[in-house]
Amino acid sequence: MDSITQSVSYDRRGRVAVLLVDNPPVNALSQHVRQGLDEGIARAADDEQVDAVVIACAGRTFIAGADITEFGKPPQQPGLREVLDHIEACPKPVVAAIFGTALGGGHEVALCCHYRIAVPSAKLGLPEVKLGLLPGAGGTQRLPRVVGVKKALEMVTSGNPISAGEAHRHGLVDQIVEEDPGDGLVDAAVSFAEKAVAEGRPLVKIRDRDEKLAEARQNPQIFDEFRRKIARKTRGFEAPEANIRCIEAAVSLPFDEGMTREGELFAELMQGEQSKAQRYYFFAEREAAKIPDVPKDTPRREIASCGIVGAGTMGGGIAMNFANAGIPVIIVERDQEALDRGLGVVRKNYDRTASKGRISAEDVEQRMGLFSPTTDYQRLADCDIVVEAVFEDMELKKEVFGQLDAIVKQGAILATNTSALDVDEIAASTDRPADVIGLHFFSPANVMRLLEMVRGAETAKDVIATCMDLSKRIGKIAVLVGVCRGFVGNRMLFMRRIEANRLILEGATPWQVDRVIYDFGFPMGPFAMSDLAGLDIGWKRETSSSSTIREVLCERGRLGQKSGSGYYVYDRETRAAAPDPEVEELIEEFSAKEGIERREVSDQEILERCLYPMVNEGAKILEEGIAIRASDIDVVWVNGYGWPVYRGGPMFWADGIGLGEVAQKIRHYAEKLGGDHWQLSPLLERLSSEGKTFTGR
Ligand code: 3HC
Ligand code: NAI
Repeated sequence: MDSITQSVSYDRRGRVAVLLVDNPPVNALSQHVRQGLDEGIARAADDEQVDAVVIACAGRTFIAGADITEFGKPPQQPGLREVLDHIEACPKPVVAAIFGTALGGGHEVALCCHYRIAVPSAKLGLPEVKLGLLPGAGGTQRLPRVVGVKKALEMVTSGNPISAGEAHRHGLVDQIVEEDPGDGLVDAAVSFAEKAVAEGRPLVKIRDRDEKLAEARQNPQIFDEFRRKIARKTRGFEAPEANIRCIEAAVSLPFDEGMTREGELFAELMQGEQSKAQRYYFFAEREAAKIPDVPKDTPRREIASCGIVGAGTMGGGIAMNFANAGIPVIIVERDQEALDRGLGVVRKNYDRTASKGRISAEDVEQRMGLFSPTTDYQRLADCDIVVEAVFEDMELKKEVFGQLDAIVKQGAILATNTSALDVDEIAASTDRPADVIGLHFFSPANVMRLLEMVRGAETAKDVIATCMDLSKRIGKIAVLVGVCRGFVGNRMLFMRRIEANRLILEGATPWQVDRVIYDFGFPMGPFAMSDLAGLDIGWKRETSSSSTIREVLCERGRLGQKSGSGYYVYDRETRAAAPDPEVEELIEEFSAKEGIERREVSDQEILERCLYPMVNEGAKILEEGIAIRASDIDVVWVNGYGWPVYRGGPMFWADGIGLGEVAQKIRHYAEKLGGDHWQLSPLLERLSSEGKTFTGR
């Protein structure tokens, strides 16, 4: 075997050349990979002892895409498009041997090969849209020529990969071969290549095919129909539309002109702010898993079983995460009735997922079969981890942890799902505070991907490392945070709420505030969100004294969506929200009572007053060491609160505006409005005066 470059080698198996890419961890198409493939193909073409070529990969996956770390830097030769042209033009058959994930540029390499074989577990996709991009090396022009326009549109705009089986059905994979942890795939690819040569099979160039485009040529309206279909999901994003335009170009233009169009739109996206933010976010998510004082080789505790205390809204959802990952769950409640209710909700959730075709009826039974419901705490004795999700009440939590301490085996992890209580105080109610950690799931816990992992003063490093791994296993994105009221997410959310409430007293309406926040890219504004959650959380009629708008609304029975009205009034059938003159009147009366003169409030002021205090609080969170790094705060906000990923997150966004400008506005509002949340964070002040940023942007 000869090395062509540091990451690509050339080997001969009989009369087949094998180009092996070995660029850990994911065989990304770094410069030396592109060069290696280019030179390897040229060599195979010239090699008289070679009749065909296989492109294969070492490690855990086929090429997973362009090397994202090279983006935004000066391009290095050879370019991917040029290399792919050479592969496609190779006069000898080229076969891609696919396992793991063939993504982005990796998938585009495969599309330029004349044949593709794959193992059943392989996945193929064009996820560029998730980085605010489009496939820039011919993917948008070649994919629809193989799978048809409809499927191609779905794949490029969602970024979601398809299985090898589905790819085979669409003609994207020529043959599925047996799973083999050894060299079986390469052997199969070599055999496939030999057969292709022996049978004199044609060198299939996808660029020359266009039978699958015919239907769309006759029905160009399918593009607008598709646009309408995905409009809600893709609101605010630029990349999905650019991807659609490229597929339109594939249908309406000759191949080379389509390639030119793809190249232009790719360059535009690459230079745009959205892709910058989404690429930043890609690495931010991966960075969040790295804890500076918890080394990679920290030993892990084994997690084979789990206990949940409390089968309410959160307990049931959390339990589903474990069952979905195949981990048996013992779920404990106060009484049988609560247990039955909790498990009933879980089953309903699974049934709903099954009715949408996302899981099968057998899956539902298999997952429900992993639940052991009980009212007996003793059953938790052998669990490897127990997650407490009882009412948010310190005395109750302490009592529960005292019980767990007495019952659960030593070495188990004891976790609390508290949303705001002091994890150290809870840990102190046990004799093993090192085993205690906060696992703050978000509602609905079976859906939301964020997990704030709360590190107590004594939480052991192996508990953190184990929970980090576990979070990945149960499909969550974990961010390690310290103990404080509301942790990272809710603590910042409180700041937005203070200003939103002030703004409506000064002259804005709830719908104006919500519109500004919605237009910024959030799924909904603060008032719509309060209505959804229920205005009566923490409200008691006995102590209610009309001291806030929320109290007044609750006193009038306007509890939010569930009662048909809150800040908004809801249509009984469609549940659509509409502004309500009664609320406007009520707010005006309230302002008058408080002696606040109402005025016109601009959208810009709303945006600044809702979001800058969050950035300021984020800076305080950083300087207190509650978050490890600014990008962790961004991960919390994008994943847990719907901050639009194309704006990177609050800290990245503030960097883009310039911290000098942000600090100046915060000083201005501090003077005008007052309040602790407007006190400029010393960190923000220092960074702005030094011309620096939070995220290195
Ligand atoms: N470029 C550079 N680094 C990459 C990378 C890439 N395309 N993909 C992954 N990495 C790095 C990650 O940053 C991480 O680094 P770290 O260990 O230092 O944190 C490491 O590889 C492992 O990644 P994951 O933790 O994500 O590993 P998983 O096994 O969970 O997932 C994966 C593997 C599914 C391949 C996932 O990494 C992934 O989705 N990668 C991105 C794929 C992608 O977006 N490809 C398209 C790129 S754009 C493109 O190709 C443009 C072309 O059309 C011109
Ligand atoms: P919930 O009221 O829906 O459920 C709590 C459950 O605990 C009830 O079913 C109750 O019967 C049970 N319970 C009470 N005492 C018990 C005991 N001693 N032993 C066993 N079970 C007991 O409450 P929810 O919303 O699920 O909240 C639970 C925890 O999760 C709280 O700490 C809350 O702050 C936190 N949380 C809630 C979120 C939400 O959006 N609801 C989000 C994130 C965290």
